[in-house]
Amino acid sequence: MVEVTAVKFEDDKLVILDQTKLPGREEYVTLETKEGVWDAIKKLMVRGAPAIGIAAAYGLYVTMRDSETADIHEFVSRAQEAADYLNSSRPTAVNLSWALKRQMKALRELESQEKSVDEAKQTLLEVADQIRQEDEDSCKAMGEYGLSLLKPGMGILTHCNAGTLATAKYGTSIAPLYLGQERGYNFRVFSDETRPLLQGARLTAWEMVKAGIDETVICDNMAYTVMKKGWIDAVMVGCDRMAANGDGANKIGTAGLSVIAKSFGIPFYMFVPTSTIDFDTPTGDDITIELRDGEEIRSLWYAEPQAPEGAKFFNPAFDVTPAENITAIITENGIVRPPFSENLRKAAENRLED
Ligand code: MRU
Repeated sequence: MVEVTAVKFEDDKLVILDQTKLPGREEYVTLETKEGVWDAIKKLMVRGAPAIGIAAAYGLYVTMRDSETADIHEFVSRAQEAADYLNSSRPTAVNLSWALKRQMKALRELESQEKSVDEAKQTLLEVADQIRQEDEDSCKAMGEYGLSLLKPGMGILTHCNAGTLATAKYGTSIAPLYLGQERGYNFRVFSDETRPLLQGARLTAWEMVKAGIDETVICDNMAYTVMKKGWIDAVMVGCDRMAANGDGANKIGTAGLSVIAKSFGIPFYMFVPTSTIDFDTPTGDDITIELRDGEEIRSLWYAEPQAPEGAKFFNPAFDVTPAENITAIITENGIVRPPFSENLRKAAENRLED
């Protein structure tokens, strides 16, 4: 297991590992303002659905702790403004709005009881701590469930990064690989580099190599070839927002992998903590897909631009894997099989009251 923490809260400070600097440099940045948190999320210094939610939850606390008002109503109204602002940083990963809504729900309860502002500040910190701890526990549980689907020596194809860098600890779809390594499974991991921002090459491969797990990086367009060669026994990916019917948005390129995997009869597993399920979104067509700057394709990671000026770019950050291409959805409450519409609700019963 790689010993690194993407989002830390220590000595009353919100500190993130700047993931745009990996794999070359491990640099930590302290975020002290809501603008700083917004920017860090937007620029993917902190990224991955659960980690974004955790950073935003602490970000709201950091924003509000210095508020000077003693009026609980004014405090809650300012907190709502800050939450709306933080929520505007990225649209697709539902953990962002989920974490902020949870913070605001706790504040509204205190407001209705006319509690003090000091208590409200303390609650923001406690809820952020709970969100962080629950994510760690949930990743551990997904690791066990995921591992129960695998056998020693298997070849696993990953896309983007759903590892410890994307969560409180362990990762979602990467958690079984860490557990398997502890138990001598000797997995062979193949990671799509994941154009254009290379989360697979820069982040997943970095995690795997650091952890001593057998790692091969491939370009995204080589996925068919490694599956055709029989090197892949399972495709395991994370999720940014799952609709109520089981359609799952994840990093651009995931849906295509699901089609290729299906054509070879290779199981396609999506790892989805229940905090990533959005029951207010009926199907994948209703999920907002983030569009990012074309410069990420043209020049961001290159010494020289890799496409001419004057060309247009289309840079959607996510795509939606249709539920029918997903073999099983792994949550912290168990492995969910079709029919997903029905079974996801059962798996998320404890969260539906949030
Ligand atoms: O744009 P990113 O790097 O935030 O995208 C992340 C992903 O697509 C992950 O697979 C997803 O958030 C799940 S992380 C456990």
